[in-house]
Amino acid sequence: MNITNASASAAEIQSELVIFPSRNGLKIVAYMDFIGDPGQAAGYVVMTPKYGETKKNNLQLAYYLAANGLVVLRFDHTNHVGESEGEMRHYTLPGAVMDILAAFDYLERQCGVKRAGLVASSLSCRMAIRATSLDVRISHLICLVGVVNVQSTLTTVYQEDVVSNYLDGKRWGINDVLGFEIDFEKFLGALVESNLHSLKSTCDDLAAVRVPVSFLSAQNDAWVNIDDVRHAVEFAKAGRLHPIKDSMHEVRENPEAAERTFRHLVAQCMEHARGEEVGFDQLVIPPKRSFIQQNKIERERLRRANPVQQNEVDFWSQYLSKYEFFESVDVYQYYINLVGDLFGEFRSGELVLDAGCGNGLFGVWAIRHLLENTSLRLDMPVIYTGLDLTHDGLLDAMGKHSLAIRRGAPSKGEAKNNVSSLYGRVDLDHLGRSTGDDGDPVLRFADNTFDKICCSLLISYLKRPADLVRHLYRVLRPGGTLVISSMKPFCDLSEIYRRYAERNPTDKEIESARDLLRAAGKIKVKEEQGVYTFFSAEELQEMLLEAGFKAPQIFSSFGNQANVLRAVK
Ligand SMILES: C[S@@+](CC[C@H](N)C(=O)[O-])C[C@H]1O[C@@H](n2cnc3c(N)ncnc32)[C@H](O)[C@@H]1O
Repeated sequence: MNITNASASAAEIQSELVIFPSRNGLKIVAYMDFIGDPGQAAGYVVMTPKYGETKKNNLQLAYYLAANGLVVLRFDHTNHVGESEGEMRHYTLPGAVMDILAAFDYLERQCGVKRAGLVASSLSCRMAIRATSLDVRISHLICLVGVVNVQSTLTTVYQEDVVSNYLDGKRWGINDVLGFEIDFEKFLGALVESNLHSLKSTCDDLAAVRVPVSFLSAQNDAWVNIDDVRHAVEFAKAGRLHPIKDSMHEVRENPEAAERTFRHLVAQCMEHARGEEVGFDQLVIPPKRSFIQQNKIERERLRRANPVQQNEVDFWSQYLSKYEFFESVDVYQYYINLVGDLFGEFRSGELVLDAGCGNGLFGVWAIRHLLENTSLRLDMPVIYTGLDLTHDGLLDAMGKHSLAIRRGAPSKGEAKNNVSSLYGRVDLDHLGRSTGDDGDPVLRFADNTFDKICCSLLISYLKRPADLVRHLYRVLRPGGTLVISSMKPFCDLSEIYRRYAERNPTDKEIESARDLLRAAGKIKVKEEQGVYTFFSAEELQEMLLEAGFKAPQIFSSFGNQANVLRAVK
């Protein structure tokens, strides 16, 4: 494949902030991305955000389109997360359909554009299909991981047929939907009244669409049944389905699949604009640096528009109280086994630090390992130290650890002397800048104290992650081992959730799994705002090398959704 890397022209992409009214008068905030004079553009494309996401998440794809001479209008929905007006709890699907039409109103009024393409993803595809069936200004529609059967997707997410239960009279009031408080009754009422819920309604809408519609659907999509998409496509006059190989609902989870998909999507938009076939080798691929600056600008704007309401201690306390899900999920167990195995065997009297220990699940692994491995007869116990921001998490860790000792020790005789533990409540985001000899007011340990340090799934949630890594280096003894991990950028937990739900869990377990999805939704918004950062393996590696660590090795775990690195001092 021969791709033009037109860094020169792609670097000239401009993003202009525009504001226009929704059809019911609320302010919609959007960006227009283009090169040169938009009046001379090859064509226009409107992009809608995913549920729970903002226009910023469409930035990269928009720059792919803009680099190829298209003008992109990407906006935030009203009554939704982002910069547009209205509160999330009033969010409904028909309201979102009206926002899409308002974007076309704006293009016509402001730019004299009579026809433009529409690109939607996930749930917003359902609204985009409705909009396309209503508005002749939409010249073609591309649905990325499109939801075509809202009822079935909601059932998979909730493990409950909420639409049927709503129709049978069940009422919820304000409910947390994937991390956002929405008026669920209003949401479901509007969904059913506007007939947007069923697969049949999607097929009916598609039958009314006269323009080309294509679906780029992930082959391993936990939320969307690809057979439903196959069925729906049949109803469109000019419908096409392109399965995306090796991809989950969050396509960017697999960078290679995302690249393939983006190119495919851009080529299709170009074809519609030019009226002729466009090969991949004719595409301009913008370099990453062309949108890094814009990404920063939008992250700052988002942070100002949606200041984080809850403090970190409350957020994590709440999160950890729902952590049972992880304990019963096999991929988490494999992950913890990997973390433990990467340390190698424990030796007599070793000091182990678990930074951001949460409920102490790594500690449970270590205790079990030390107690069950009867060949281990240690002269001095291994001393485990768990540190965390939350009091509740630490209390839970202590309870779990003493239970693990009680359960393991009686039958193992002296083995109970193999382990002893300490706990401390600290904010690891308030470390001193210096890593001098006197220790640190937060990480109050002398240099070269620990033999092993575990820093599992913490680093992403700190404002100054590199400071912690430098301090961990300081307190690790020469030759000691660090194992550190982060969820991957664009990680997707849906498959883990689906597999868990399929194994017939109890109601309590399902509730705990839903809580996890809600927390993941909240974490995602904070990640979009730049409050949290999921690191790629390369970024973590660089951080470790900069702090002085040697030979970082990279592993992938947790259903391939987390990067785990092992390094030595
Ligand atoms: C995703 S949990 C991971 C818990 C545990 N390490 C594990 O792998 O199961 C993130 C943990 O980081 C802790 N944490 C977040 N910010 C922190 C901070 N500033 N200082 C110390 N701990 C923090 C949270 O309280 C939570 O326990």
